Amino acid sequence: MSTDSIIIKETKIEDLENILNLWNNGDVMFYVGFPQGLGITMKEMETWHTHLQANKEKRKHYSIYTRELGFCGETFYEINTVHDIAAMDIKLLPKAQGKGIAHYALRYALSHVFDKGLAKRAYVDPNSNNSKAWRLYKKLGFISKERPNYLEPSDSYLEVTKETFIKKGPMDDEGFNQWACTYDSSVLSSQTDNLYPFAEYSKVLDSIYKVIKGKSVKTILDIGFGTGTFTFRLYENGYDIYGVDFSYEMLKTAQSKMPDANLIHWDFTKGLPSELMNLTYDCIISTYALHHLTEEEKINFLNLMKKNLNPGGFIIIGDISFETREQMEEVRHNCNEEWDEEEFYMIYSESKAMLNFSNIYYQKVSFCAGILELRN
Ligand SMILES: C[S@@+](CC[C@H](N)C(=O)[O-])C[C@H]1O[C@@H](n2cnc3c(N)ncnc32)[C@H](O)[C@@H]1O
Repeated sequence: MSTDSIIIKETKIEDLENILNLWNNGDVMFYVGFPQGLGITMKEMETWHTHLQANKEKRKHYSIYTRELGFCGETFYEINTVHDIAAMDIKLLPKAQGKGIAHYALRYALSHVFDKGLAKRAYVDPNSNNSKAWRLYKKLGFISKERPNYLEPSDSYLEVTKETFIKKGPMDDEGFNQWACTYDSSVLSSQTDNLYPFAEYSKVLDSIYKVIKGKSVKTILDIGFGTGTFTFRLYENGYDIYGVDFSYEMLKTAQSKMPDANLIHWDFTKGLPSELMNLTYDCIISTYALHHLTEEEKINFLNLMKKNLNPGGFIIIGDISFETREQMEEVRHNCNEEWDEEEFYMIYSESKAMLNFSNIYYQKVSFCAGILELRN
């Protein structure tokens, strides 16, 4: 899958035929002991759905789609309030497997359970021969444990706690690897609908491009270049590009667009890699990446970058950010469940005084994004 976005929605009546086809698919049901499929009827599906609706607080069933593939599968959870634990599952049609969709969808369901405080632990019980499922669960932080005796006997028991899931972070490099193939299209759909987090994404990039074009710039360092959408624009216009990103998949995509760019696989929470640390640049850019640093880390990082600027050089950051805390709280309130609690957005009025630069400008571009420019 190259350009598609994943859509996860609560299962409604209109999704039942798709779910029926999933459950009646022998390949999908092989590891749960039904190599011919469940052989379920539409009438039985409707009864199941009515039962689901009646237990909405404890059970949520999601249908997974992508624009390119259409219906892909299901994920669900069921809360056991007595033992404070959620049973999780995911099933995908063969056409949707191996594309990062399962990782994304299960993470979505787990976040729902933990963010809403529905349970402190979650478990899965994959067939011991289903190595793909085991790999997926391990990546999400599940570990093998003795199966509690309040559950029906089964082959396996893997558990993840809320703490482990949160510590793993909403998006580690593996998360970004999984996202790389759908990144461009998910940005596109968020900006087309003028939604947090990518509302006016193009406008942010265009404004940064204009600033760079208007100055005497040759060398550019991009922090967290992603698929290289913006960096490529600079590259094809003759700028010398340097950059870091910790996702191999993002790096691979970006490098294929920009074979001569100096792109380095690196985690910027550790500062800059030695190859780039002692170089100086006319411009340092970062778009939609620095919000993965806490506010303190962000300020330290930016202040450190000062020494990597050539005379007349500048830093320009386009990211989710706000002028005041009140503005951020209003957007958080309106975004409701969409709001990502694991990211750290700059509040200009609060951070400005800690930035060690003589000239600091902030320009609001959309209700949730702005551009920060730093010069000596
Ligand atoms: C939302 S994408 C933004 C990509 C691109 N700059 C853009 O504007 O479309 C964030 C990027 O930052 C990278 N990233 C996040 N945390 C990172 C870290 N600690 N070190 C290096 N790269 C990181 C991710 O791999 C991803 O490619």
